[in-house]
Amino acid sequence: MIYNNKYKNKEEYVHSIFSSIAHRYDLLNTVLSFNRDKYWRNYAVSKTQLKENGSVLDICCGTAMLTIELAKKVGPNGRIVGLDFCEDMLVKARENVKSERLENNIELLRGNAVDLPFKDDTFDSTTIAFALRNVPDVEKTIREMRRVIKPGGTVVSLELSKPGAPFFKQAYYFYFNCLVPVLGKIGAGQGGAYRYLPGSVIAFPHQSKIRDLFEKIGLKNAVYFELTGGIATVHIGIK
Ligand SMILES: C[S@@+](CC[C@H](N)C(=O)[O-])C[C@H]1O[C@@H](n2cnc3c(N)ncnc32)[C@H](O)[C@@H]1O
Repeated sequence: MIYNNKYKNKEEYVHSIFSSIAHRYDLLNTVLSFNRDKYWRNYAVSKTQLKENGSVLDICCGTAMLTIELAKKVGPNGRIVGLDFCEDMLVKARENVKSERLENNIELLRGNAVDLPFKDDTFDSTTIAFALRNVPDVEKTIREMRRVIKPGGTVVSLELSKPGAPFFKQAYYFYFNCLVPVLGKIGAGQGGAYRYLPGSVIAFPHQSKIRDLFEKIGLKNAVYFELTGGIATVHIGIK
């Protein structure tokens, strides 16, 4: 178990974590990932196969950093929806969307990834970034993502993953397990939240297993792309 006994379940714990770090989430992402998070998100966008005027649902959108990049991809006549269950993250998302002058293009909704409030076959693509390991039921979430896209549409996940190369892996785990919680405490006053981060990545299945899950759920041509030595991975599958 990677969450504290004070909480009823993982969902409640994850919600409390993101409420407590929302004010510093964007800054810490940039600092802790050495600014790689932007490149990883842009790579994920490039794998959606979205076109001008397309429609996309970004679940667990947080502060809308991926949602904004998706909006740029589909243009002003596309449909872009960001969904998250944490109001504090959505408050930051609204600020970020407004500062990009995209408030007329992006719809932000409160909702749960395991029970999406959309009909079958609605969007061209669904995306999720840095969140599959946070949801209470990974398989149910991917099934929901698949359900709401049209036949031929894409499900794309960007997630932190497990690097393979021996020396790189050791240096990375030292940084991740020992330094990230300290930096998180300094930056957001939340050592606990940034202890959860390495624990959640270690507990999450290897990238090859997530690809297998995509296939099991019925997503075709399921493949994954490891980025920055496998620190992050983008999965894609087609309905
Ligand atoms: C690490 S953040 C990722 C935010 C964003 N996708 C990004 O690229 O930075 C994870 C987000 O998932 C949201 N989340 C976690 N579980 C959720 C669930 N079951 N339903 C909806 N949102 C959820 C959290 O509130 C948080 O905003």
